[in-house]
Amino acid sequence: MQGCASHPTLPESDSRPSLMIPRAMDAADALVTAGAAELDLGSHVSRGWGYNATLPGPTLRTRVGERARIGVVNQLSEDTTVHGHGMVVPASMDGHPADAVPPGAGYSYEYPIVQRAGMSWYHPHPHGRTGRQVWRGLAGAIIVEDPMAEQGLPSGDREIPLLLRDGLLDRAGQLEYRRRDSGMVGNFPLVNGVPYPRITLAPALHRFRVLNAANARVFRLGMRDGSHFTLIGNDGGLLDQPLELDTIELGPAERVDILLDLSDHATGGQLSLRCNRAGWDLLEMHVAGEPEREAVIPTAFSPIPRLSVGPSTRRRAFRFEGHRRINDREYRMEHVDFRVPLGETETWTFESAGGAPHPVHVHGTHFQVLSRSGGRGRVFPWEQGWKDTVLLEDQERVEIAIRFDSYKGVFLLHCHKLEHEDAGMMLNFEVT
Ligand code: C2O
Ligand code: CU
Repeated sequence: MQGCASHPTLPESDSRPSLMIPRAMDAADALVTAGAAELDLGSHVSRGWGYNATLPGPTLRTRVGERARIGVVNQLSEDTTVHGHGMVVPASMDGHPADAVPPGAGYSYEYPIVQRAGMSWYHPHPHGRTGRQVWRGLAGAIIVEDPMAEQGLPSGDREIPLLLRDGLLDRAGQLEYRRRDSGMVGNFPLVNGVPYPRITLAPALHRFRVLNAANARVFRLGMRDGSHFTLIGNDGGLLDQPLELDTIELGPAERVDILLDLSDHATGGQLSLRCNRAGWDLLEMHVAGEPEREAVIPTAFSPIPRLSVGPSTRRRAFRFEGHRRINDREYRMEHVDFRVPLGETETWTFESAGGAPHPVHVHGTHFQVLSRSGGRGRVFPWEQGWKDTVLLEDQERVEIAIRFDSYKGVFLLHCHKLEHEDAGMMLNFEVT
């Protein structure tokens, strides 16, 4: 085996491994097995876990108004569940830790698609073990399509999911999980499971659907030459209009949908997507092929109605403290911490008290970010529209408007730094 180096470094351009594009699977009748996997790290193979033996697992595709039926088989030697992060589903289909799937057993996650188009993802959510299971390789994308709403956007091989995370290897070159209260971070990037990959792209418009699938790391995305890309969507689907940006900060579990116009690049051109926080060159893009007619970026998508809040709106406040507590509590799986009436808009505030960043995630719906005070002090362009996860840095207070329209039952509110979640930074609430 090559590569006893425990730290893949940026390879020469020619020897960068190709980006892996996960296999697409129709979510109407999908079968996914959580089990052992051989993860191809380019220079060598590491043992790990995967859905259908790959990292990322298959991309599950469905459409607004259809039904998903995702059968899961647990071939691990410990409990797991599969949570559709960003999917609005009945509580029994949400992969709650109380609905653990034991080793050797299965579960059928079945639900109608009642939400807007967008990219969600699936990952384990077992009690106290989520961080390790995700780190070992269990994660995949779920894409909800809406051909009407997405008219004019690149599709097929011009629509590329990018699952970003980091990795850490032991001395034998094997992916290693070292649980730390402050959050598990690695020392090299994995893009769709590949360290420092490259991709060849036609001189055309491309759509990248980017997910921060890391346990704890925040990515600051930008192009190496500082050029702009076009932000068109985030966690809960398309924004009401596209926006030109040169930087996006993406906390764990957040997604962005971006367009990159390569139509005026000549064959032989090269670009890179970077993380300017870690200083990593995430994905090298080589332009090759015949130029096509000029790309047309739609100028508007469907308008997003604002959730209306006023002086009589019910308010709740959540303080994320240190590494394991919300409002002075650690998670108790069988205990309902608060109740929320179905169909009523509320405002919730999230406040950080040490241990940040805390990417705060709510199950069961999408919400709108109203304000951020302290810390970075503003709502960013990629936080418009519908979100299910919002990044809380130190000293920050974020206010959201939220309403549960679809299902009653017990759902979760938690920090998506997975080591915080596993240590207890999570609450159960019941929509009633
Ligand atoms: Cu991405 Cu509660 O999960
Ligand atoms: Cu946290």
